[in-house]
Amino acid sequence: MYIDSHCHLNLSHFENDVAAAVARARKAGVAKMLVIGTELADSVRAVELAHRFPGTVFAAVGIHPHESKDADENIYARLRALAADDKVVAYGEIGLDYFHNHSPREVQRREFARQLNLAAELKLPVVIHDREAHQEVYDIIVAEKGYRHGGVIHCFSADYAWAKRFVELGFVISLPGTITFPRSEMQREVALKLSLDDILIETDSPFLAPVPRRGKRNEPAYVVYVAEKIAEIKGLSPEDVAAATAANCQRVFGM
Ligand code: NI
Repeated sequence: MYIDSHCHLNLSHFENDVAAAVARARKAGVAKMLVIGTELADSVRAVELAHRFPGTVFAAVGIHPHESKDADENIYARLRALAADDKVVAYGEIGLDYFHNHSPREVQRREFARQLNLAAELKLPVVIHDREAHQEVYDIIVAEKGYRHGGVIHCFSADYAWAKRFVELGFVISLPGTITFPRSEMQREVALKLSLDDILIETDSPFLAPVPRRGKRNEPAYVVYVAEKIAEIKGLSPEDVAAATAANCQRVFGM
């Protein structure tokens, strides 16, 4: 059984065929998937999908760094209420994006810190987005004790030294479809050196489809290609990678 630890079936890319995408995932052996919020409306949609596909789809709610400029007390009150739903197994995605800078960096930092504390209050593990901001993501997690209920550094793009530091804080590292891209040597080194106990697999669909689907819309069924690549790197079978990463997902998120 594979688990896609990070997908966005709640986005408009799937509005016409979400049931078919879930069915294709299940047929490919992807028994469970975690649908991630990036703002209020798609967080609501993530919880709706979790109710529509019980036992298959689970939800995370939160405000992505891109959207953090629009966060306010009213939105947090609604997220807090939403998080009480038993289908919500994580808080996120939250963090810093110093590549796109869709929100001012000081706003991103403030809302990240605030949400780490909200997640801790809700006793939820966190889903962390870190794009070209490794040191500051790390520092804010440490300052806010954002490791209290564990979590994942999703779509991991830093090197092995950073992976180790986050693992030492109690996080797992989620590897996406880009690990199949020719130029992703650093991600493959992370996969090689990290213990399988510290790795999750994800699609981040509809984005970042792995080879051989590169350039197409990504979907949870394609997490199998991520597992196959990690298996090849580590000299294991895809089934070994599936079983271990699914067990890790269950440990971190209880899904
Ligand atoms: Ni995402």
